Amino acid sequence: MAILFACFATLVGHSIALNNGVGKVPPMGYDTFNAYGCDYNASSVLAQGEAMKRTGLVDAGYNIFILDDCYALKERNATGYMVADPKKFPNGIPALSKQMNDLGISLAAYGDNGYYTCAGYPGSYGHEMKDLETWHSWGMSYLKYDNCYIPADNITQENMFGRYTRMSDAIAAFAAKIHRPPFIFYLCEWGWQQPWIWGRRISQGWRIDGDIKPYWSAIASIIDQASFQYWASDFYGRNDMDILEVGNTGQGTPPGNLTYEESKTHFTAWALMKSPLIIGTDLTNATQETIDILGNRDLIKINQDPHVGESISPFRWGVNPDYVSNPDHPAEYWSGNSSYGVVFMIINSQNTEQTMFFNLTESWAIRAGRQYSVYDMWTHTYEGVAVWNLTFSLPPHGVRALLLNDAGPQPANLDGTCAFYYQCSV
Ligand code: GAL
Repeated sequence: MAILFACFATLVGHSIALNNGVGKVPPMGYDTFNAYGCDYNASSVLAQGEAMKRTGLVDAGYNIFILDDCYALKERNATGYMVADPKKFPNGIPALSKQMNDLGISLAAYGDNGYYTCAGYPGSYGHEMKDLETWHSWGMSYLKYDNCYIPADNITQENMFGRYTRMSDAIAAFAAKIHRPPFIFYLCEWGWQQPWIWGRRISQGWRIDGDIKPYWSAIASIIDQASFQYWASDFYGRNDMDILEVGNTGQGTPPGNLTYEESKTHFTAWALMKSPLIIGTDLTNATQETIDILGNRDLIKINQDPHVGESISPFRWGVNPDYVSNPDHPAEYWSGNSSYGVVFMIINSQNTEQTMFFNLTESWAIRAGRQYSVYDMWTHTYEGVAVWNLTFSLPPHGVRALLLNDAGPQPANLDGTCAFYYQCSV
């Protein structure tokens, strides 16, 4: 029996997907880090929760709230448990958790794989079970897990995968102990050791890059990175492109400067590439434009598609030769499948207005010899029928997000032609 169990454990340990039933589609919610850094407390959290509710974002699907770094005291208590900072949370975190639940939002945890969090608060290395107990007692069931102050090699004798497996194992053990679903687990090792290859074995998502910034160069560079890793995202495990910067124009030091067009491109890419959609701006004084971008139901519907978990993928890079990485000019022509039609995302990565052109059949998801109705996911209108190709102009760093649906055979005057003309015979 013992031998049998050991074999089973080995097999489980090497299975490709964790697939423990949680985290099927991307999480949607809020994280304190981009808007506040360390400078938040119970009232600011509640104010954001109320703003999420008031602006309709809870109804749109944003339902978790990650207390990122800095919620605890710097020292654990005598029995090794973390203590919530009483100045920041005068009534304790469970009370806040309850208030957020009443708004339709669940608090979520931030922790760290090492001795300290990145801002120097207690890390969970060696305290995994205790910290899970604490977070659970705070009403949390989602964990973002950072990678600062990790123990030296001789201590763990593990690489990145092994170090992160400690918490993944603790999550499984804790779930078994309390007879509840496991915590949803998001790795934050900044793409250092190709987590898109192994992350799925132990988690529901993994950051693919360092910290996002509210500038176009940061957004373009993350899209470029993701254009080589889109294949890793699907149900139960996905690339995490980081907390959104939508709304942070004019905020921060130095101030963010995303234009309206850039903010739309940012949100479109995150949604259609099936990244988590995690708000990172002060919603209490957000503009209607910000709320409308974050609340784009057409894009959210694709992000949360219950039947198709894949990301869109590039079919042509555009400015760059295909398959060449360029953080300033990521791939521009993308498409993919969804339950609602064939999805296209076209980005103008240049600083001037450009004419964008593509043949529909450049996308694998399009049938040749057919015509397609075109729905624009930003104007929320049908824009007629496309035959063979589409051409339109886009402003600098602008985006077009389209949903195409089969509208019957192509017109008869095109009979006998081939979009893919090599080896085509009439
Ligand atoms: C970084 C992480 C950020 C934020 C920050 C907190 O490592 O990438 O998203 O969590 O730590 O200190």
